[in-house]
Amino acid sequence: MIDSANSRSGAEPDLGDVEGSVVLVGAGKMGGALLEGWLARGLRSGKLVVFEPQPSAQILARAAEGVRLNPDAAPNAQAIVVAVKPQVAPQVMQGLARWAGESAVVISIMAGRTLAFLQGALRPSAAVVRAMPNLPAAIGRGITVAAPNANVSPRQRALATRLLGATGAVEWVQDESVLNAVTAVSGSGPAYVFLLAEALTGAGEAVGLPPPLAARLARETIAGAGELLHRSPLDPATLRENVTSPGGTTAAALGVLMREGAFQRLMEEAVAAATRRSRELAE
Ligand SMILES: NC(=O)c1ccc[n+]([C@@H]2O[C@H](COP(=O)([O-])OP(=O)(O)OC[C@H]3O[C@@H](n4cnc5c(N)ncnc54)[C@H](OP(=O)(O)O)[C@@H]3O)[C@@H](O)[C@H]2O)c1
Repeated sequence: MIDSANSRSGAEPDLGDVEGSVVLVGAGKMGGALLEGWLARGLRSGKLVVFEPQPSAQILARAAEGVRLNPDAAPNAQAIVVAVKPQVAPQVMQGLARWAGESAVVISIMAGRTLAFLQGALRPSAAVVRAMPNLPAAIGRGITVAAPNANVSPRQRALATRLLGATGAVEWVQDESVLNAVTAVSGSGPAYVFLLAEALTGAGEAVGLPPPLAARLARETIAGAGELLHRSPLDPATLRENVTSPGGTTAAALGVLMREGAFQRLMEEAVAAATRRSRELAE
């Protein structure tokens, strides 16, 4: 299902050779992170066009450096990345359809906006990629899963990989319905981790730690363990087993969390609920 052959971690600078212009529609949290990632990877300011009704100070500073801000149109775009809220999609796509050229690949990161909707708003021959990033994209450590429509050429797909890879790892799937489950795991996943930090803080307080110390321990433990997981070649189960001595403190805690598969079952229930909700929202 996952096509790892064209996945990447997005580490090296490699956007210096993009030929046409790259257009960003919507430079909010996600769009802003993408834009900074592109510039950091060598995309020249003069190649970038941004449409954003309320540009932040960061975007205005980029405009002063040569990024084109809110021109009437950008007809020679090689790629158009749509990063507005899904609610304004109809009006934004209508605007795009007026000037987006045949050769541009349109990459949407809007939650719940399907390939059929995007293609329908443009033209039947439009090359469209639907992508689902996640919050750590804001610090270049996200993971994005992308699905192409049938019009996306290998070159356009490679460009989409490079653009989306500016905020972290990229995976491709051929079947966009997989994006509902992706949304439930990686899209909503950061919130589950934040909840874990909240719960660990509360549990620390319950065994007598001062609240600020409990909060700090929970935050640093989750951030540190996350970083370890990121850097280690070992799978999470092995990492867990490696810190669990038989009869020790960790084993005592895991005995509670893993009793009769309780934690696994709760997570499965949560992810199933998010998958269902994602499906409903895309209908
Ligand atoms: N944040 C995440 O973790 C996350 C994860 C996965 C997917 N996404 C998707 O990413 C998209 C962007 O999310 P976000 O969190 O970055 O939202 P955001 O911060 O609200 O950014 C959207 C930006 O688009 C601008 N905009 C509105 N109408 C526009 C128009 N007609 N033309 C150009 N720009 C326009 C908005 O300006 P105003 O403020 O003036 O309205 C805003 O700056 C959403 O579709 C969301 O589903 C986000």
